[in-house]
Amino acid sequence: MSILIVYYSRTGNTQLLSNHLANELGADLEALHDGRDWISSWGTIQAALASVLGGNSRLAPLGKNLSDYQLILIGTPVWVGRPSVPIRTFIKMYRRQLPNVAFFCTQQGEGGKNVMNTMQSLARRVPVARLVLREGDLAGIHENTDADRFVDTIRTFTKDQITQPA
Ligand SMILES: Cc1cc2nc3c(=O)[nH]c(=O)nc-3n(C[C@H](O)[C@H](O)[C@H](O)COP(=O)(O)O)c2cc1C
Repeated sequence: MSILIVYYSRTGNTQLLSNHLANELGADLEALHDGRDWISSWGTIQAALASVLGGNSRLAPLGKNLSDYQLILIGTPVWVGRPSVPIRTFIKMYRRQLPNVAFFCTQQGEGGKNVMNTMQSLARRVPVARLVLREGDLAGIHENTDADRFVDTIRTFTKDQITQPA
C-alpha cells in the first residue's frame, strides 16, 4: 500500500516527526508551501490570528499525485489549539480526493486533541490513527511509545487492507 505524508512545518518540529514516520513506514513526503511569512514577529501574530479565524492561504501546487496513494498521513503544528493555516487549506481543498487518512501534530504543551478533532471534521472522515506529540518528546522520537503505537496501528491497517479479499 502506498502511503503519502503531507505536512506543514514552520520551524522544523513537524518536519522532523514527518521524516521519522516516513522512514518507519516507507512513505513519500509532501511538504506544503504557501509563500506566506508565518515566521517574523508580525507573521507569527498573523499565524495566530488566521488560525483562530479559520483562514486559508494559497498553496503551491503539490509535487505528488494524491490518487497514487491509498493512505495519506496529514501532519501539522498546533496553532492556538487549531491546525496550521496551510493544513486547514489543504484538507478543505483536497477533501474529496483524500483516501484513508491518519492525523498527527506537534505542540508545545496543549491543544493537540482539539486539532485532531478539527482535522477530522474538516476531512469529514474518521482517521485510521491519531498522534499528538510534544516538541520536547521529539529528541527521543525513536523510543517514544505514542509514536510507536501510531506506526504500529498504521502497519496493521495496511496489512489488513492487503490481506482483505476484494
Ligand atoms: C502561532 C502559533 C501558535 C501556537 N499555539 C500553540 C498552542 O496552542 N499550543 C501548543 O502547545 N503549542 C503552540 N504553538 C507551538 C507549536 O505548536 C510547536 O512549537 C510546534 O511543534 C511547531 O511545529 P513546527 O516546528 O513544525 O512549526 C504555537 C506556535 C505558533 C507559531
